[in-house]
Amino acid sequence: MATTKPAIDYSHLVQEDKVHGSIYTSQEIYEDELERIFKRMWVYVGHTSEIPEPGDYRVTWIGDESVIMTRDEDNQIHLLANRCRHRGSAVCQYQAGNASYFRCPYHGWTYSNNGDLTGVSFPSGYDERFRKEEYGLSKVPRMGIYRGFVFGSLSPTGISLDEHLGEKVKGMIDLFVDLSPVGEIEVRAGVHKNGYHANWKFVGMDGYHGNFVHQSVGIDRAARKGQRVTSPERSPNLTRSLGNGHVMLDGRPARASQPNRRPIDWPEEYVKELEDKHGKERTAELIEARGDPHMGVFPNLQLIDVHIRVTRPLGPAETEVFMYPVLLKGAPASVNAQRLRHHEWFYGPAGMGSPDDNEVFERNQTGLSAQIDPWVLLSRGRHRERIDTDGSPISNFTDELTQRHQIFRWREEMTAP
Ligand code: FES
Repeated sequence: MATTKPAIDYSHLVQEDKVHGSIYTSQEIYEDELERIFKRMWVYVGHTSEIPEPGDYRVTWIGDESVIMTRDEDNQIHLLANRCRHRGSAVCQYQAGNASYFRCPYHGWTYSNNGDLTGVSFPSGYDERFRKEEYGLSKVPRMGIYRGFVFGSLSPTGISLDEHLGEKVKGMIDLFVDLSPVGEIEVRAGVHKNGYHANWKFVGMDGYHGNFVHQSVGIDRAARKGQRVTSPERSPNLTRSLGNGHVMLDGRPARASQPNRRPIDWPEEYVKELEDKHGKERTAELIEARGDPHMGVFPNLQLIDVHIRVTRPLGPAETEVFMYPVLLKGAPASVNAQRLRHHEWFYGPAGMGSPDDNEVFERNQTGLSAQIDPWVLLSRGRHRERIDTDGSPISNFTDELTQRHQIFRWREEMTAP
């Protein structure tokens, strides 16, 4: 007799102060995530500055689906399925390039960079019922762009990108981009590619782990220099929810006590250019934030320090992370050079920080294989969570407000009809 598997009770697996370890380890839940999150929600795919010229393209992913982001001859951006309309072969094998056409390697059908089918090999094999205009590359059902950040949704319906991001996230993206004296960023400095054998949701926003996972960067270095080691628990900085599962580690409060103090590697003429473009008040905000929202945009985008970070799940215990250091258009070369050196120092393949994060993510996955007590505690700081003047839930820097708000959004999507 056939049996029906009971539906997964996500409301039980994600509670107000803890989550069940299976949300990080279960193959079934992972497959459900691909359907309910990566095939329904707005997913970040790339930045328009990666394809600045007509004909430029980049191959990217929405969940497990390969898509091509193109700029056509009329400067229009397209998100196209990387799947031939004949028998489904990928039409583009390169990660990026410039091409007027994509030619399928299997039987030679040819598509223009706006997706139109322009050529069918040996066309006499098709009669008048075959209409070329019906067989262009499929477009990703919805595409939205905010300040060059391109998002796609495989669902033809759902909330708009504007609603998904909300004003608070858009404000933080502005903070990241406005550090350019002309208000534009350039994502063309290459990419650091990481892979780790653990769940994609571990790439979070954690103000608690720094003193331990990154001990060699902060504490050991400070101790060697004879400096006082400060605890993030005593920091005035905050964890902050921006709504819709988007969260940030807000580093601005600690700098607010040093108003207008520019980083030592920012030349005075750069600050002057920022003031000319944005005004003194806005420039003071930019200096306070250093252009670093330290923000996670659910489900797969983070803006951290000087880079755009993109998470791609490959399985319940397999994840790829791409880190794109960002250049500021119009900024002095020394400022952009310093951004790159800083990025390499902490986030690069031999960097002082990110490799340690990957190591601990894998240890998490190992630990979660023990199911004696399957629960993961996320209760830190619940008693001191509060509402900021702008209506945002906030808490102390080491609190798990960020993890809770991300996972609550996850639960919302996983239980949506
Ligand atoms: Fe592309 Fe046949 S699969 S031309």
